[in-house]
Amino acid sequence: MYYTASPDRYNNHCEYRRCGRSGLKLPVLSLGLWHNFGGVDFFENGRSMLRYAFDHGVTHFDLANNYGPPPGSAEENFGAIFQKDFRSHRDELIISTKAGYLMWPGPYGEWGSRKYLLSSLVQSLKRMQLNYVDIFYSHRPDPDTPLEETMMALDQAVRSGKALYAGISNYPADMTREAAAILRSLGTPCLIHQPKYSMFERWVENELLDTVEKEGIGVIAFSPLAQGLLTDRYLNDIPEGSRASKSWGFLKPEQVAPAIGKAKALNEIALQREQSLAQMAIAWLLKDQRVTSVLIGASSVEQLENNLQAQKNLHFNQDQLNAIEAILKGG
Ligand SMILES: NC(=O)c1ccc[n+]([C@@H]2O[C@H](COP(=O)([O-])OP(=O)(O)OC[C@H]3O[C@@H](n4cnc5c(N)ncnc54)[C@H](OP(=O)(O)O)[C@@H]3O)[C@@H](O)[C@H]2O)c1
Repeated sequence: MYYTASPDRYNNHCEYRRCGRSGLKLPVLSLGLWHNFGGVDFFENGRSMLRYAFDHGVTHFDLANNYGPPPGSAEENFGAIFQKDFRSHRDELIISTKAGYLMWPGPYGEWGSRKYLLSSLVQSLKRMQLNYVDIFYSHRPDPDTPLEETMMALDQAVRSGKALYAGISNYPADMTREAAAILRSLGTPCLIHQPKYSMFERWVENELLDTVEKEGIGVIAFSPLAQGLLTDRYLNDIPEGSRASKSWGFLKPEQVAPAIGKAKALNEIALQREQSLAQMAIAWLLKDQRVTSVLIGASSVEQLENNLQAQKNLHFNQDQLNAIEAILKGG
């Protein structure tokens, strides 16, 4: 299955937004490899999704050391696909990875120490068969390690050439401000923040979005479809093969029922907009220009295709916004 990238890939498939005040632009839709790219998944399906994404202007693929299962297998699979299909396109791609969650036993296998972060980055590069990643993230704040140490490790990753930019994920607003100040003082500005953000998860609206805007940091919203709850996947039942049906999926079956009432009501508005619920959930995030990119997951090329079409209508009138707000705030 020899792959030739579509010559049409930059022709109006994807909009690109500047990431904060940096020089880097990201596609408004990026593809994450948390689920569906691990050792338990069908390799060729993941490969088809990456090809489809790249052929349609999606230049950013997001990974982490622990994605799988088993942990590390998504990076390994990505490395194998990269070698086969994307090696000659390295300079067209933004590939990110992260360290923060448990990867190996003992006191140095998780959180935010310099020892863990820099060792993990070396391991990630080896698994992905890459010389460098574009973005290296601290995956979660560490309550015990001094923030200076974690940020100095990110700075070191960039200075050593193993990463081009530094990012943080899941950091609250106050720690984001502090992290940004430390990184700035080190000469490696914080490029991007990766928070969970969707219609169902809006903590970033309290303070974080204002903070990143002030600091000149971009935002990439993860789990924008609430792992599938903000799609038509579960409107009738929990289908075979869906994330909630899998023993290793992070969406638990008991999370589905409480969300369905709102999902059905939102689906009605999406239909009036001539969009799928997934498309409307993506558009709703992208209406805010502070959101650089929406980091979706997908289990098929069809889903990816559907999600990319969200860009056709990012505009909401006030009535639609009010109706959505009433559903989201309803009991
Ligand atoms: N920084 C962090 O701490 C963190 C944490 C979590 C995730 N992330 C990143 O964010 C990425 C995305 O997270 P996510 O996978 O939870 O994102 P998501 O976009 O909220 O959910 C993706 C799931 O929604 C379903 N779906 C997608 N498009 C659909 C469509 N058009 N119609 C019906 N169903 C659709 C699929 O479920 P099925 O599999 O059931 O088909 C898919 O696997 C991850 O891959 C990772 O890169 C980061």
